[in-house]
Amino acid sequence: MPVSKTLLHQKSIKGVPSGRPTWLKVDLSALRHNYLQARNASAATVETWPVIKADGYGVGAVAVARTLIRAGADGFCVAMVEEAEALRIAGIDAPLVVMSSITAASAERIVAAKAHAFISDIGVAKALAHHGLESHPTPIYLKVNTGMGRLGVEPGEVDDLLKELARYPSLRVMGLVSHLACADQPEHPENGRQIALFQALVGSSTVQQLTAGRHSLANSGGTVKIPTAHHAWTRPGIMLYGASPFFPHSSAHIDGLQEVITWHSHILKQRTVPAGTSLGYGHSQTTACVSRLGVIPVGYADGYRRRLGNGGGAVLIAGQKAPLLGRVCMDMITVDLTHLPHITPDEPVLLLGNAFNIEDWAGTLQTIPYEILCQIGDRVPRVYGDSPSDS
Ligand SMILES: Cc1ncc(COP(=O)(O)O)c(C=O)c1O
Repeated sequence: MPVSKTLLHQKSIKGVPSGRPTWLKVDLSALRHNYLQARNASAATVETWPVIKADGYGVGAVAVARTLIRAGADGFCVAMVEEAEALRIAGIDAPLVVMSSITAASAERIVAAKAHAFISDIGVAKALAHHGLESHPTPIYLKVNTGMGRLGVEPGEVDDLLKELARYPSLRVMGLVSHLACADQPEHPENGRQIALFQALVGSSTVQQLTAGRHSLANSGGTVKIPTAHHAWTRPGIMLYGASPFFPHSSAHIDGLQEVITWHSHILKQRTVPAGTSLGYGHSQTTACVSRLGVIPVGYADGYRRRLGNGGGAVLIAGQKAPLLGRVCMDMITVDLTHLPHITPDEPVLLLGNAFNIEDWAGTLQTIPYEILCQIGDRVPRVYGDSPSDS
């Protein structure tokens, strides 16, 4: 796995990173605020384990973990053993649980990383038992398919599997886990169905006898709006990073979440061109009048989405919108500055944030904020700071 972007790029927010003038500013105080929204949504006895898979949804898992450990997070959820290992290498010693990509071949590494594991397959559990130590049993959670239909054993298999798992002293079965399919729509009847099924499972005498009762069901949506999904610990993800778990039915602003990331750049070159000038690859747009153009060093290789080209998107310069002209290239975009005559040669540019936040991008691009966050490329430095005004 490549070294985490967090390790490569952790810098003070005061300094603009060296190299290409484009960077993602991460507001750690907003991250803490959003974490506390999740934390305070459940009873004090319920633990909060932030989801920091995919390098903290692209924000930088190490910086997110360090910040949220100080804020009181009880542990963290990742998807893959490689992600747990990267966190351990960076010195994160908080509890980590690997939720999805676990195979028998990765079992030894899970044990070495002192990670917990979601189990959907008895073969994986046996491999973990083989590599584990009776003196320090590996904490595992039996994942049950209550409606998501991805991983997880079927509800009717739970009792037999728990009896089998109980035979391995190097494993400690902490509880049952499952995942809500429709938590972005709290009124959706599937939530009630999944919650009732999970409740019946955790209430069974076999589950009560053979697990430590550390059950978990809630993602961000469940954490915020469905208290009956809380159980022993919650797993909030997207809300921490400043997007509503109920998008597009709600927004971060309505949900009281703060903006965590803003994406910045500078104008690298300005030029004036006559009317009738065709621009960029494919000459996809032609100027209607004498036009002032600005070239900004960011492109689709950075996660700046190609569909924002040809006027599909805009950037914010000196507080005003400058629409994109022509196609988004791999490393550059061009914007129309004709209506902005007084800007300086290397004027700051806001690509994402404020008027163009991740929810706006997701709406324009007909996708979800998760995808916007995860696709901001590794070559965009992440710059961490504590306050939006601290720039
Ligand atoms: C198993 C599991 N739990 C929790 C989460 C967090 O979900 P969200 O980001 O919607 O809060 C995810 C994210 O996909 C997940 O896969």
